[in-house]
Formats: sequence, structure tokens, C-alpha cells
Amino acid sequence: MNDRTQEYKAYIESYLTDWYSRFHKEPQAKLFEAMEYSLLAGGKRLRPVFAFEFCRMCGADWHKAAPFAAAIEMIHTYSLIHDDLPSMDNDDFRRGRPTNHKVYGEAMAILAGDALLTDAFCVASTAGNAEGIAVLAECAGSLGMVGGQVLDIMSEERLLTEQEVIDIQTRKTGALINAACVTGVIAGGGSEEQIAAAGRFAGALGMAFQIRDDMLDVIGTQEEMGKGVGTDAGKNTFVRLYGLEKCEELVQRYTHVAIEALSAFEDTAYMKSLAVSLTDRTV
Ligand code: IPE
Ligand code: IPE
Ligand code: MG
Ligand code: MG
Ligand code: MG
Repeated sequence: MNDRTQEYKAYIESYLTDWYSRFHKEPQAKLFEAMEYSLLAGGKRLRPVFAFEFCRMCGADWHKAAPFAAAIEMIHTYSLIHDDLPSMDNDDFRRGRPTNHKVYGEAMAILAGDALLTDAFCVASTAGNAEGIAVLAECAGSLGMVGGQVLDIMSEERLLTEQEVIDIQTRKTGALINAACVTGVIAGGGSEEQIAAAGRFAGALGMAFQIRDDMLDVIGTQEEMGKGVGTDAGKNTFVRLYGLEKCEELVQRYTHVAIEALSAFEDTAYMKSLAVSLTDRTV
């Protein structure tokens, strides 16, 4: 792993660990245990890395993006806990361990998700930047990730058009990636032009990321991915829509479009190589 990736990941791990370690003596300690079980289970931390790097590419100290980076990782983790519930994707394995509801039960898993979502805004507020918080709320809520999850579960019984699959992806996965890149720019004091460019990067990168996620559900392994594979068979994935070969080509094409949007920033070599490295990820 690249040094910068390692530095960003170590920082977000300790930021999230420290945030919650203060609350272990609360009477609802079980809730914190359930939240930390999923939050500190070693995800890729890709969204925090994006937030830090976009902040740095604006010429600012990347640590300024930490409240947004942490908040987005908390919201992302809550989305995974709820996504795995029996009433949603009904998955048993996540981030290398049994899913939250398998260990703590459905009620606690729902509440752990609720708490991560709500606490995320407390963490984000420490940045003292209302514009960033508004972006976060819009990307996570009814217009963003939750909206996409609704379209996803509503469409399970029928075959979708290409545009419908893209509309779901843009919201369920694209929106939080967008929040990471755009809040990184906002924290870094970037220009309106840079905010727009971060949005274009995230739009294309989010497509590449979800297409690869759908491919890995077919060609990946549970050992590497840390989550069950083959569990989306019969769902409206990009693989069902395009087939594996075209998916591979589209991952390349969308990544190229994402990289073009980086011309609005300085010192983009790291982000370019990160985007390229995601095209053949196996994790
Ligand atoms: C998985 O996201 C869910 C999708 C949006 C496709 P990640 O692949 O980023 O999951 P973690 O954070 O590494 O566990
Ligand atoms: C995830 O989509 C989108 C979320 C908002 C969690 P998936 O349902 O494809 O994600 P995985 O494959 O379970 O991680
Ligand atoms: Mg899902
Ligand atoms: Mg799922
Ligand atoms: Mg998936």
C-alpha cells in the first residue's frame, strides 16, 4: 500500500476509535459495542481517503477534512449495517465478520445504524462548516443514498433499463462518494469550479466503483472481499445489464472520465494512480 494511503487510513482509524472510546462507560455500552463492531472492522476507508486527498489537492492541510471524512465513514457503515438486514439484502457476512444483526440481533443492528447516522452529524459539525454539512445531508438522505436504496429494493421483481440501473447507482453508491470528494474540497477552501470538478470525478468514479462491486459479486472471493459473493444474483446489477466483458470495459472508460475531471486540481498523481488501482481491485 502507498505511504499516503497508509497515513490517511491510520489517521481515520484512530479518529474513529478515539471518538467512541470516551463512551464505553455509558449504560448503553452494548450499543457502542455494536456500532464499533462494524465501524472498526477494517473497511477500505476509501471515502475518507477521497475527502483527505481532495482537501490536499486544493493546497490545504488535509487534516481539515477529518470531521467530514469520519462522518461519511460512519454514514457509510450505517448504510452497510442496514443494507445487510434480512428485510433488505439479507447478508450474513461483512468486513470479514458475521453481519451486525447476526451478532447483536435485528433491533440492535437497526439502532446501531441509527446512532451512527445521527452521531455522524455531531462529528461533522466540529468542522464548523454549514455548507459541508448540507452536502453531507443531501447525499445521505432521501435524494441520495437512502433514495437509491429505496429504488434498489423496489425494483427487485422486474428487469430494469440501463437508465434505471444508473439512476439507482448514482444515488445508492455515487452520492456518498460525491459527499466525500465535495466536502474534501469545501474543507480545503476550494473554488466553485473545483467543487463542480470534484462532483464530476465522483460521478464517474462512483459508476466505475459500483460496476466493479457488481463484477466482484460474480468473480470475487469471500476471503478477499470480506463479504458474501453471489448474493446479488437475480438483482438488477450492472453485470446482469451488460455482462462481465462490457463491465470491464466500462470500468476503464468511467475511470478515464473521472481522471479528466482532476485537471481542476494541483498535484493529482496520487489520485490518478488510486483511481486506476481501483479498476482491477479484488477487495
Ligand atoms: C461497499 O462499499 C458498498 C458499496 C457502496 C458498493 P465498500 O466496498 O467501500 O465497502 P468497505 O467500506 O470497504 O467495507
Ligand atoms: C450497497 O450496494 C449500497 C449501499 C448503500 C450500502 P450493495 O448492496 O451492492 O452493497 P454490498 O455488495 O452489499 O456491499
Ligand atoms: Mg443492497
Ligand atoms: Mg448489499
Ligand atoms: Mg454489491
